[in-house]
Amino acid sequence: MAAAAGTAHLLLLSLLCSLFVYQCDGACAEVDSDTEAVAGKGFKLGCISCKRRSEVDGAATVEWYFRAKGEADFVHIYTYNEDGPTIEHDHFMDRVDWNGSKRSNDIQDASIYLLNVTFNDSGTYQCFLNRILFYEFYEYNTIISKVVHLTVVAKATRGTASIVSEVMMYVTIIGLQVWLLIEMIYCYRKIAAAGEEALREAANAEYLAIASESKDNMAGVQVGE
Ligand SMILES: *[C@@H]1O[C@H](CO)[C@@H](O)[C@H](O)[C@H]1NC(C)=O
Ligand SMILES: *[C@@H]1O[C@H](CO)[C@@H](O)[C@H](O)[C@H]1NC(C)=O
Ligand SMILES: *[C@@H]1O[C@H](CO)[C@@H](O)[C@H](O)[C@H]1NC(C)=O
Repeated sequence: MAAAAGTAHLLLLSLLCSLFVYQCDGACAEVDSDTEAVAGKGFKLGCISCKRRSEVDGAATVEWYFRAKGEADFVHIYTYNEDGPTIEHDHFMDRVDWNGSKRSNDIQDASIYLLNVTFNDSGTYQCFLNRILFYEFYEYNTIISKVVHLTVVAKATRGTASIVSEVMMYVTIIGLQVWLLIEMIYCYRKIAAAGEEALREAANAEYLAIASESKDNMAGVQVGE
């Protein structure tokens, strides 16, 4: 019984695994970095470069450079290699954490995390992934670089898509309400008109009845004379 339950569990797990390959075996996806940070908060500077030949062993070192807004030159701010992380610039001292691949020299994710973002952090960031692939008889060296243009804002702004969909939601709700109201007024008028018509008809019928009755009476009176 317990064994059967265990097998079922395993089956379910492997099913989930094949559905969410990304989480389970760490398959690599080159997601672009966000580009808008909020002042005072943390921000993850993304830099992912997937290895094309996953069966080949590799080793990589990472360097990050930064060019502040309005400056001409890049400065070296961060290194991550076999010795671990090193912050290379005073402006970022104690403010950068490694957010990339863990427990591996074979780095594919070279993202870093900026703590307590200030407006002075806006500018251009560039990461360099220096990768060596170890083939049987030779080594192959590649340098991949990615650029992130970071803007720092006081408050998180929302994407256009979310604003558009919110506006659409209100338009739809208000539109439906107005339509409902018009329909209600129309119906009310129709009912009221029908009611009046019925009243008028009833009154007419009564009048006619009275009229013919009095006519009869008159006739009777004339006859009686
Ligand atoms: C990145 O680093 C920050 C600060 O150390 C941590 O709070 C955050 O959870 C990390 N994120 C990931 C995805 O590793
Ligand atoms: C970041 O900001 C928090 C709160 O303002 C503060 O406690 C912390 O010491 C700051 N960290 C750094 C590295 O400046
Ligand atoms: C930002 O830069 C300006 C000019 O370089 C400097 O005066 C200011 O202290 C800096 N602010 C922070 C929070 O580092």
